[in-house]
Amino acid sequence: MDDIIGERKADHIEVCLKENVQSRKVTTGFEDVNLVHRALPEIEREEVDISTTVFGYKFYAPIFVGAMTGGTAKATKINAAIAEAVEELNIGMGVGSQRIAIDNPKVEHSFSIVREKAPTAFIIANIGGPQLVSKYGVKEAKKAVEMVQANALAIHLNSLQEAVQPEGDTNYSGLLPKIGELTQELDVPVIVKETGAGISSEDAKLLATTDVAGIDVAGAGGTSWAAVEYYRAKARQDGFSQRLGETFWDWGIPTAASIVEAVQSVNVPVIASGGIRNGIDVTKALALGASLASATYPFLQPATKSSEDVKKALQHLVGEVRNAMFLVGADSIKELQKVPVVLTGKTAEWLKLRGFPPEVYARRKA
Ligand SMILES: Cc1cc2nc3c(=O)[nH]c(=O)nc-3n(C[C@H](O)[C@H](O)[C@H](O)COP(=O)(O)O)c2cc1C
Repeated sequence: MDDIIGERKADHIEVCLKENVQSRKVTTGFEDVNLVHRALPEIEREEVDISTTVFGYKFYAPIFVGAMTGGTAKATKINAAIAEAVEELNIGMGVGSQRIAIDNPKVEHSFSIVREKAPTAFIIANIGGPQLVSKYGVKEAKKAVEMVQANALAIHLNSLQEAVQPEGDTNYSGLLPKIGELTQELDVPVIVKETGAGISSEDAKLLATTDVAGIDVAGAGGTSWAAVEYYRAKARQDGFSQRLGETFWDWGIPTAASIVEAVQSVNVPVIASGGIRNGIDVTKALALGASLASATYPFLQPATKSSEDVKKALQHLVGEVRNAMFLVGADSIKELQKVPVVLTGKTAEWLKLRGFPPEVYARRKA
């Protein structure tokens, strides 16, 4: 079993490195999110405060590297490179699903190396929703947290991926109470995250009936797990799964719409992810009300090279956030969350049809 999971994890990394696994037809919707340029920002760019405190941790910038990997030799290298970079920059990262190491302690080091390399960064442990339904409980969740001395635990929801792979865990019944139980029993904040298909207002509200500390929308428009499974199926000549992957390639709630759905429905911090590719995307996500943004795929290639490469990629993002905040005249994240935003195109249409009021898609300065 461990070998199978290890192989699958290695496959995911290889497929993501070699093939185009990004959404094809669906876009994040950030192209519909318009920030209003200020010719008179009346602030000095270098004095813009991009730091923010979320989950009791002060992030140097409102970003972190999303959950990606663990369990294999290559994953150890990737995790170490990301950890070194986030430690230097004083931000955070998620590790990939820890199922493989919970079941086989021999591979724990591929995860625990993250805390070795990043003694003070914000580290997010990771377990899967379907495993909570089938076999895991408080004990395994605590083990995952301990393994990386995590600041928070993410429970990932990946119904799309499970539904398009033949070995998928498609039993999601009774997950919500399990999530609720973990929020009561764990000493760290519990974040629930999607993996590229987004979170609706309905699901955000359900999650908020528990004590979840944050919701990471991971919407559609970036990495597509149906695409990853398409390539895996193609390699093993499994025509049925290949077709499933192709059909569901662009499934999901686009990220920009999902951010608004969650932000407008719950009072817990919302994390924006799924296709975040530059600092303007981050800035738009925060203007829509997200507390933090994260990206995963953009750091995979750099992380196979060196921590220096990851650091450079992060610094680009940080510099762009600072620039965009300057150009909308926001000298802090709090101010950014109040700047005017105009939503157009399919995102505005979506939000109107979903019943959100005009001040949501055409916000004047709050
Ligand atoms: C290679 C790879 C492996 C991933 N593994 C996990 C995982 O183990 N657990 C998880 O919660 N998300 C995992 N994700 C999903 C990401 O955390 C993220 O939600 C998704 O990729 C969308 O963000 P992006 O468009 O910036 O890549 C993985 C993503 C990639 C690219």
